[in-house]
Amino acid sequence: MVLTTTNLAAGESLPCTFASRYVRTSLPRFQLPDCSIPKEAAYQIINDELMLDGNPRLNLASFVTTWMEPECDRLIMSAINKNYVDMDEYPVTTELQNRCVNIIAHLFNAPIGEDETAIGVGTVGSSEAIMLAGLAFKRKWQNRRQAEGKPYDKPNIVTGANVQVCWEKFARYFEVELKEVKLREGFYVMDPEKAVEMVDENTICVAAILGSTLTGEFEDVKLLNDLLAEKNKQTGWATPIHVDAASGGFIAPFLYPELEWDFRLPLVKSINASGHKYGLVYAGVGWVVWRSKEDLPEELIFHINYLGADQPTFTLNFSKGSSHIIAQYYQFIRLGYEGYKNIMENCVENARILKEGIESTGRFDIVSKDSGVPLVAFKLKDSSQHTVFEISDSLRRFGWIVPAYTMPPDAEHVAVLRVVIREDFSRSLAERLVADINKVLLEIEALPSRIAKIAAVTSEISGNDGTVPKKSVDEVQKEVITFWNRLVEKKKTNGVC
Ligand SMILES: Cc1ncc(COP(=O)(O)O)c(C=O)c1O
Repeated sequence: MVLTTTNLAAGESLPCTFASRYVRTSLPRFQLPDCSIPKEAAYQIINDELMLDGNPRLNLASFVTTWMEPECDRLIMSAINKNYVDMDEYPVTTELQNRCVNIIAHLFNAPIGEDETAIGVGTVGSSEAIMLAGLAFKRKWQNRRQAEGKPYDKPNIVTGANVQVCWEKFARYFEVELKEVKLREGFYVMDPEKAVEMVDENTICVAAILGSTLTGEFEDVKLLNDLLAEKNKQTGWATPIHVDAASGGFIAPFLYPELEWDFRLPLVKSINASGHKYGLVYAGVGWVVWRSKEDLPEELIFHINYLGADQPTFTLNFSKGSSHIIAQYYQFIRLGYEGYKNIMENCVENARILKEGIESTGRFDIVSKDSGVPLVAFKLKDSSQHTVFEISDSLRRFGWIVPAYTMPPDAEHVAVLRVVIREDFSRSLAERLVADINKVLLEIEALPSRIAKIAAVTSEISGNDGTVPKKSVDEVQKEVITFWNRLVEKKKTNGVC
């Protein structure tokens, strides 16, 4: 990289803020550059490159918050230089975290007194929260097995095949087998009966999801609790439940307060929720709370004292920012129960508007349910000519990021589009999206079918006697999905989150 400004005297500012006037060669990509550059130039160069990122507000793939009030943005910026782990130096920030844990534990009906301190911790997201909860279950199960003189080297977790990738990470990183209940067409969440059938003496917990990542649907935690309690009674085991309420944890208490999914159910020992999803804070905060002190083995808690007083820590990393904890507390006191309820109701209403608009095209079947996380997942009624992957691709041109994906086993042949409704996805944006989906449908329907082309190519390859073997609709569909998956994978590194 060559800058014409290298002969500027120290402290002299650039005459112009447009960095392109000063950069003559490619920017460093692999090695630290030899020379410094003026701050204005560095800012402009990076800012310009970032303009090519998608617009977060139009990223309908993500549950993660993309808008907060300017007052909270100010609080976030003023705490940006505070390391959360320095608890002795920043006791107020620590206190705000503890208040958040207490508020969440009460929201999830933990059996604690009015002024009693809850057991939980702030994390960087639900993934870290799940790792911690999983470790606590693993250690408790190992301790029990060891005390009984039984083998404790083959722990497993029972989940639905719809679990988010963080559970697979937990299983691989911490050597726990993941036993997945398969899905089927039309039923995209864990079946509690099948889950309980899969439980054995090595099961450290059953993980239920409150708000499936794929369809937003809540799993039936109450039924799971009742069936598992019965099995525990028969077998003498004590298999517990963890609820992955990454999305649903900040929805159910406001929209479905009567729904029993949380610590009201005796086998639910821990719950995670993403503060950065419907907790309404920017990316970087999650929570895990335990039912009681007994559910978090003491040996997993570390005590450090070199930063000041004795500090208990139970997190995977050490240093992290404080801003998100502060932002979470801001949302709690700013919105209160009333504010969260209003926002969630509004999201549900916007999901309804969008769903009706999508249905009115006549081309889609809705896969998501009306209750659960406010999102709309939909599939093409007829995918013999075009696919949801083409629609997702074409919507990009209008700025919309709408993911298309296939369902997990055994429903892989079902491909859907999914729009997550966040607070900042207003009714007018929903109406606009429907208009753009209609435009895209007209456009792709005017094009020759790529499916027919792919089917023809694959048929040509497989027919060695000059005849074109006739393929079933399912076979063609499978080939098309494989083709698009490969194409999409090449372009995207992120899955649905
Ligand atoms: C059900 C579920 N669990 C866990 C996660 C991971 O959450 P995080 O992104 O907060 O780590 C997600 C993310 O979408 C999710 O939907």
